[in-house]
Amino acid sequence: MRVGYVQFAPEFGEVRRNLARVAELLASEPADLWVLPELFSTGYQFRSAGELSELAEPVPGGPTTRRLVALARERGCHLAAGIAEEADGRVYNAAVLVGPGGLVARYRKVHLFYEEKNLFAPGDLPFSVAEVGPARVGLLVCYDHLFPEAARALALLGADLIAHPANLVMPGLGQLTMRVRALENRVFTVTANRIGAEARTGETLHFTGLSQVVAPNGDVLLQAPQDGEEAKAVEIDPLRARDKRLTRLNDVLADRRPAFYRRLVE
Ligand code: ACM
Repeated sequence: MRVGYVQFAPEFGEVRRNLARVAELLASEPADLWVLPELFSTGYQFRSAGELSELAEPVPGGPTTRRLVALARERGCHLAAGIAEEADGRVYNAAVLVGPGGLVARYRKVHLFYEEKNLFAPGDLPFSVAEVGPARVGLLVCYDHLFPEAARALALLGADLIAHPANLVMPGLGQLTMRVRALENRVFTVTANRIGAEARTGETLHFTGLSQVVAPNGDVLLQAPQDGEEAKAVEIDPLRARDKRLTRLNDVLADRRPAFYRRLVE
């Protein structure tokens, strides 16, 4: 199957324009699974909770998820994308996985980064894995990359591939940790990062690009430039992620010794 990322610079608050730009970029080549950045339709730097709730949408009924499903239908693909989700009076930094038949899975960012703590409710859904063709796919959002437990939870649930919408701002960090998450779990990872800058609050955030597809041995199969739009996909065999052997005598999941660290990591 072919998996890829869409890297671009969302314009803050311009939901329709951002959706249209994604639709243009997707036309560049075929893929079975495209990953889009975190908060790709709204932009990232909200000035207040009020501004955020005006742009947040219900899932799956809101216009962004509905447009993503229509795009999945038009292109015969699945899409994983970051979205500001409104539910029960709260707003989550969420991700959706959609296919031609509609919403397939959803996730709400568990580890909130920086000012997100003043804006979003922390994720309250259990980690889960969904099927996309031959692959079992799990979702993480951006800063979740720094918590090995999150990717490990998805691997233990059977994920072959982690789709990782991101708005990375610390140069090189998430790109490095996602290579480690891939190799320590023997899974594929697809990080879709954004580019550009936002300076809406008196502070300028520079987004670091370098979206990537990583193989279960940590090899970078595909990487976007630091600053430039790009939608690219690569052929992978997701079943490669079902082989957890490192050597003839080592299997990275079977070799775990949870009795020795269970209480310490709680
Ligand atoms: C991040 O979690 N957006 C860095």
